Amino acid sequence: MKKNFFPYLSVLLVFLIAFSCQSKKEDDGGKKEWWKEAVVYQVYPRSFKDSDGDGIGDLKGIISKLDYIKSLGVDAIWLNPIYSSPNDDNGYDVSDYRNIMKDFGTMQDFDNMLKGMHDRGLKLVMDLVVNHSSDEHEWFKQSRSSRTNPYRDYYHWWNAERGKPAYRYSLFDINHDAWKYDSLTNAYYLHYFSRKQPDLNWENPQVRKEVYDIMKFWLDKGIDGFRLDAFQFAAKDTSFPAFPEGFEKNFIEYYAMGPHLHDYLQEMNGEVLSKYNAMSVAEGAGNTFEDAHNLVDADRHELNMAYAFEGVDIAKREGYSVLHFKEVFSKWDSVFAKNGWLSVFLANHDQARMVSRFGNDSPAFRAVSAKMLTTFILSMRGTPYWYNGDELGMTNAGFDKIEDYKDMPTLNEYEHQKAIGGDLQKFMLDIQFSCRDNGRTPFQWDSTAQAGFTTGAPWISVNPNYTTINERAQEDDPASCLNYFRKMVALRKANKTLVYGQYTLIDRNNPNVYAYTREWKGNKLLVLLNFKAEPATFDTGLDLSKAKLLISNYSNAIPAGILQPYEAVIIQL
Ligand code: NOJ
Repeated sequence: MKKNFFPYLSVLLVFLIAFSCQSKKEDDGGKKEWWKEAVVYQVYPRSFKDSDGDGIGDLKGIISKLDYIKSLGVDAIWLNPIYSSPNDDNGYDVSDYRNIMKDFGTMQDFDNMLKGMHDRGLKLVMDLVVNHSSDEHEWFKQSRSSRTNPYRDYYHWWNAERGKPAYRYSLFDINHDAWKYDSLTNAYYLHYFSRKQPDLNWENPQVRKEVYDIMKFWLDKGIDGFRLDAFQFAAKDTSFPAFPEGFEKNFIEYYAMGPHLHDYLQEMNGEVLSKYNAMSVAEGAGNTFEDAHNLVDADRHELNMAYAFEGVDIAKREGYSVLHFKEVFSKWDSVFAKNGWLSVFLANHDQARMVSRFGNDSPAFRAVSAKMLTTFILSMRGTPYWYNGDELGMTNAGFDKIEDYKDMPTLNEYEHQKAIGGDLQKFMLDIQFSCRDNGRTPFQWDSTAQAGFTTGAPWISVNPNYTTINERAQEDDPASCLNYFRKMVALRKANKTLVYGQYTLIDRNNPNVYAYTREWKGNKLLVLLNFKAEPATFDTGLDLSKAKLLISNYSNAIPAGILQPYEAVIIQL
């Protein structure tokens, strides 16, 4: 007898449709994942805490501050590179991927640190720097030594008898030239960053295998994920065709998302990331939203997240437009509303301090504007990446002498400007505002000498304002930036609407106030942020009569159509 399956099938179909609509509705970003709900805290190890008085932060120092990090309520720590390195670029020039930089400690210290993190329920995300290595890595030493060395093709070489290769811009080179001539084998090697950071040849399967083995080495130790440094540049057209004149003004268009990059990422995912269920985030998101989606959409099996630079690039010395800020963050949210996942951040070790760039670091407004920016980052959809020290509202040091700067590309560019007769006065003003050393001054723990960071002489000067802006002083002050950060993290953790909720920009044309709602499972929140040092009006068109205040950076917050300078509120509607 022929059975009629139709009724069963239609019931199943209705069930499946209902189920998929339900999960779409409940969670717009796709599947729930720990890394979507996490707040990632970035530790810049060199400047965080020194345990042995040599003036350089280290792993034992980090261990001594794990309780502090835990107290913030964050979930994961992203650590900048801690591998062996001659430190041309503060660890982003790795000479041994399976060892710890001497300045930072030993492998035993690492194991203790990882255990200390996991004991406290904190995950560890390591920086993976494999677009390039150090020129002091054994691979490069071998590669350089002769044209027939088995490691020769680990890097990009161009034999000089072919003539000079087509110009490639280098971000860090003193002459901006990414090809360095090496007389030993009469050939040029490629370095998108400094001469001591030769680019690895990802087109060589052996290089890729080496990288996957390195990743497994750390994952076998138990780490939880990787941040892929400069990875959008890894794949290259090795015929190195000439680019149009002036391409360097928009080099990302030419350097990012080279041929086969997605193939390599899928290979990496299959070989490593998926096997360990490791979290992954790439620095850079390509040139288009399509590029970004292709990197992170779950069905492509590449990465979990990328971070795009458009948001952090908005701040300029002369100021920035709030309308532009709103437009950029709204645009990025909308393209990832249904698929893929975003990172949200306003600072990291490559940026000057958040409050000095996006807020107002004058004594009158520093704390309140830092708290307003905290409210912004922790109320957006996407995974917040938080840079150490911003929870204290640490500010730019704004050194006025070039001798105080330590950052290699900044010092190289200073020499370059000098050599071409550039405007050094303007250069100094620019770096006072934007140099990444501003974000790398020692963490301000207390008001004792060197901010309690070291008992020795710090590798970079402490910001003199440590006597008033420091962790110790803020611990006991319920109204401090630090305690506001904790409250805001706790609010996000308790309120998944802030993680998964749909984002809607309102009062779009308001030039001072950034207002948006977040909505999830019938819960609706309104976020109001005044980005200006003057009171500002807003018009949400919403009924606020039953609104319940969840958090504010003012003790007398009354959202009645006007916000106080840099006021931030989140209200439940
Ligand atoms: C990006 C890193 O964040 C930066 O600090 C570094 O200088 C370059 N990549 C080169 O590795």
